[in-house]
Amino acid sequence: MKVGDQYFRTIWLKAGDECFVQLIDQRFLPHHFVIENVSTVEQMVTAIREMHVRGAGLIGASAGYGMYLAALQAADTAATTGDFDRDLAEAAAQLKAARPTAVNLSWAVECQLKSIAAGKTPREKVALALHTARLIADEDAEHCRMIGQHGLDLIQRIARKKAGKRVNVLTHCNAGWLAFVDYGSATAPIYAAHDSGLPVHVWVAETRPRNQGSKLTAWELGEHGVPHTVIADSAGGHLMQHGEVDLVIVGTDRTTYTGDVANKIGTYLKALAAKDNNVPFYVALPSSSFDWKMEDGLKEIPIEERGTEEVKHADGWLEGRQVEVRITPERSPAANYGFDVTPRHLVTGLITERGVCEANEKSIFSLFPEHAP
Ligand code: MRU
Repeated sequence: MKVGDQYFRTIWLKAGDECFVQLIDQRFLPHHFVIENVSTVEQMVTAIREMHVRGAGLIGASAGYGMYLAALQAADTAATTGDFDRDLAEAAAQLKAARPTAVNLSWAVECQLKSIAAGKTPREKVALALHTARLIADEDAEHCRMIGQHGLDLIQRIARKKAGKRVNVLTHCNAGWLAFVDYGSATAPIYAAHDSGLPVHVWVAETRPRNQGSKLTAWELGEHGVPHTVIADSAGGHLMQHGEVDLVIVGTDRTTYTGDVANKIGTYLKALAAKDNNVPFYVALPSSSFDWKMEDGLKEIPIEERGTEEVKHADGWLEGRQVEVRITPERSPAANYGFDVTPRHLVTGLITERGVCEANEKSIFSLFPEHAP
């Protein structure tokens, strides 16, 4: 994607030195564009846990590259005293434990373990790890590009009905190219619509407490020239009641094979408001975000609880530097639930790389029969 006059991938290998992975450190956006060099699996675990990188697809791609860095390290120590397979298993466990909700994390680590196991020597294993890391990232990009094409059909249909008036899409959190590789899931149809000349406008919900909407989605859309307006999280229902939202598209960190959707906290309330106002509510996801083992999202999906300082404080840009201020009484306790689960009956459809399906087992398996029991 274009930033200023340069093109960037969301995560990539350093040109000329494949021992370094480079990524955009999202903690400083939208104020400062910082590229981080990551050369060890420990650094990658920190980058995932501390949210230098975030978003389901990117967490998966980062874990893929993290396993490659772990393989490089294990090959180094295996040459002297180490045990390659033990070191790799330890790295896999550390990566998996970095964040609990996005299923792409364990999916990518498992892909790597399976692929690396086919290598006979440490050298072969490193080569396989590199190949698989690239594959995970490239596949994420291609799947999101396809999601864009299928979602474009939905926006085109609405645009035809509105006869040239702008189509208003509401989104939550950041499920854009910063959260995946190169296109984004929820934003891919928006970018495709905008690039094809449709008059699309996005309501960007700020997404407290970390403000992925107002910081990241707004920045992405602005860089791409997509008309958008940042709103307070609680404004979505009001806009829907007044006919200002034509459809909602959100991402997901994990969706059960039965269609229950875990996404950033606040998604469920938007789905409720959409249902009450007959606004279509779509979830865009690559197949790597399906959990093929989980049946009941509310009971089974682990919901990350993060530090309370994220709720009690806010940060912003002041006179050339990032500053943090407390916004609650010092002694008030706070709680910080990172995600919620939107039950399938509130979801109009799932936009995947293979097309749009309903949020139920039958429809999901009809698109992905290889995962059917
Ligand atoms: O906690 P985050 O920022 O990693 O949250 C994940 C998300 O970006 C969202 O839940 C998103 O809407 C779906 S995953 C790209």
